[in-house]
Amino acid sequence: MSRRVVSPMLAFLCATSFSTCTHAQDFKKQVIYQVVTDRFFDGDTSNNNPAQSYGLYDPNGFTNPSAANWHLYWGGDLAGIQQKLSYLKGMGVTAIWLSPPVDNINVSIPDSNNNPTAPYHGYSARDFQRIEEHFGDANNTWTAFDNLTSAAHQNGMKIIVDFAPNHTSPTGTGEDGALYNNGTFVTNYTQDTNGYFHHNPGISDWNDRYQLQYYSLEGLADLNQENSYIDGYLKSALTQLQNHGADAFRIDAVKHVTWGWEYSMANTAFSSKPSFFFGEWFQGGTSDPLFHDSYKFANHSGISLLDFPLNTAIRDVFASNNNFSEIDSTLATEDTNFTWQNDLVTFIDNQDMARFLTVDNNTNRLNEAEAFLLTCRGIPIIYYGDEQYLHNDTSGGTDPYNRNPMTSFSTSTTGYQLVSKLAALRQANDAIAYGSHQQRWINNDVYIYERRFFNDVVLVAINKNDTTSYSISGLYTALPAGTYQDYLGGLLGGFSLTVNSGSGGNNPANNFTLPPHTVAVWQVTGAATQPEAGSIGPTVAQPGVQVTMAGDNFGSSTGTVLFGSTAAAIKSWSNTSVTFTVPNVTNGLYNVQLKNASGTTANTIQFTVLQAKLIPVTFTVNNATPTNPGDYIFLTGNTVELGNWGTTFDTAIGPMLDPNYPNWFLNVSVPAGAQIQFKFIKIAADGTVTWENGANHTYTVPTSGTGYVNVNWQN
Ligand code: NOJ
Ligand code: NOJ
Repeated sequence: MSRRVVSPMLAFLCATSFSTCTHAQDFKKQVIYQVVTDRFFDGDTSNNNPAQSYGLYDPNGFTNPSAANWHLYWGGDLAGIQQKLSYLKGMGVTAIWLSPPVDNINVSIPDSNNNPTAPYHGYSARDFQRIEEHFGDANNTWTAFDNLTSAAHQNGMKIIVDFAPNHTSPTGTGEDGALYNNGTFVTNYTQDTNGYFHHNPGISDWNDRYQLQYYSLEGLADLNQENSYIDGYLKSALTQLQNHGADAFRIDAVKHVTWGWEYSMANTAFSSKPSFFFGEWFQGGTSDPLFHDSYKFANHSGISLLDFPLNTAIRDVFASNNNFSEIDSTLATEDTNFTWQNDLVTFIDNQDMARFLTVDNNTNRLNEAEAFLLTCRGIPIIYYGDEQYLHNDTSGGTDPYNRNPMTSFSTSTTGYQLVSKLAALRQANDAIAYGSHQQRWINNDVYIYERRFFNDVVLVAINKNDTTSYSISGLYTALPAGTYQDYLGGLLGGFSLTVNSGSGGNNPANNFTLPPHTVAVWQVTGAATQPEAGSIGPTVAQPGVQVTMAGDNFGSSTGTVLFGSTAAAIKSWSNTSVTFTVPNVTNGLYNVQLKNASGTTANTIQFTVLQAKLIPVTFTVNNATPTNPGDYIFLTGNTVELGNWGTTFDTAIGPMLDPNYPNWFLNVSVPAGAQIQFKFIKIAADGTVTWENGANHTYTVPTSGTGYVNVNWQN
């Protein structure tokens, strides 16, 4: 029996008034569908071959792809996505990730065989302030984008824009990285008299923090975000997208944009409207040399990450038949290190890797992997066409053969049904979106795990072996005694489970046989005895910014949300979602606590209160104390933005960068208008700290634009 009753009146309000019932920051209940706009559906043939970029279109794309040039535009557009919203809604999709929709270069860059190529993928921007003519209309207006966002919102779906602030387009060819501002030419890479771009070689050492942020990625013109014009340009592009209905952003190449600047980028958006950010920090796994940097970034910047380590583990285990222990240990490591692990954005395929079915042409395995993805912790992404088992194995199925034309919109595939059922479970049982993860039974082929949020429990059993059954004995679960039907209704071979009573949340299940390639899902929503806080978003903001807390059993009457002893101003209150503004409290880390109207407290959730909106400032310290390999200079200071005088890798700001050793620099987002005190420290490889001498340095942060500080190390 479900305890969640939605009155017809409330349902009506939700359908008609988007903002009262869904808050973009609370993203954990979303199921994301990733679209390469050009390859999805041609909803408007009038924009297929626009005059300003004539000849970049191949009409064979959707009809006869084997005869088409896979590097040209094929006709998919924003109107096409709009026309397929009911297909997506029927699958339970609640958010659509669009490939970059902004205006891209208008000319071909011939490939090594002298065949034309075009930026159908969207990653070669020329004008971040307008919409690409192949996706919208010949005048680069916002009309098609506005139509899509409002239609999506009317259908309860959010729009995620892929935003690529790292670069414009390739240098020395095409348009030479040209940048335009709403149709007006600003500069290209060669002219660049104002330092709008970095002029450095291509990245060669992929573990060098300086090269990653300041060198060129794949020959692309690398924008200089510390330049106040570029800073303002990119931030106005972002807020303009928000004003046109973008609910969230996937940040391209987040590891290659100046890290400190990105904090202020996200903060600008959060200060303007509710939003959610996740970045593409590419890494192979948790032993990547910069894994620590990645979770430090996610824990402090307000930007969550695409979960590349888990992606590797999922593909290794399901497609390449590795042991389930790889997934189990990856989850354990990440869940220890990421503060908000349920915000990590999880995926199996994307536009940069061969599709799963190219690696292993086994649809059972893909179904099992999708079932895992949709029940594991994190916010799942379905890459377009995976639900139709789309793949093209030409040249190993990598880019561009993983950007297939969508050829079928069948709603009866197992893949489509599976997403639909598990998207419904994400709405119905809070353990999926907010719960912990616990391994309950494991061998090379079998993984049985439990998600749990208070008395809400989901138990999932997967056997990925194609031929072997396993006898499961000694399984314990937090599911109360009783018999549970498979939530998937046998779609992947599941069956019922009987649980007997035990103690301490460990109830013995009856022994059973788990047949080959089976997934079973058993679940319960238990009665809540207190308010249950599951989510906060954003995770970092200054006083005055709107925040959403989501969960269950908050009650229908307005209660309080406390930062220490200070109550936040409540903007809206429902049983499952509360919005408020960050109160005017001292900056720092808070365990935010909700109390219902009768004073019963919820569990606390961590939140970082900033002193003020963030301004990117570049700090340089000259002639710092000598360092040995593995030692780094860090910055630390008197606000939470500067680590509150922290002296560890995780709490101080850095490592700083030393392309001009022994001078070190770092771009850091600091509170606008604040008088900050700071010092530079050496943290040696073994953690030993050396402070510079003398009085603290002081600086007054500008209230807008960007800033620069240049001081000498005090001996
Ligand atoms: C990563 C994107 O996912 C990829 O498709 C793109 O080519 C590069 N970043 C450059 O923008
Ligand atoms: C302790 C350090 O030793 C000192 O140098 C620094 O100025 C203070 N922390 C911060 O006020």
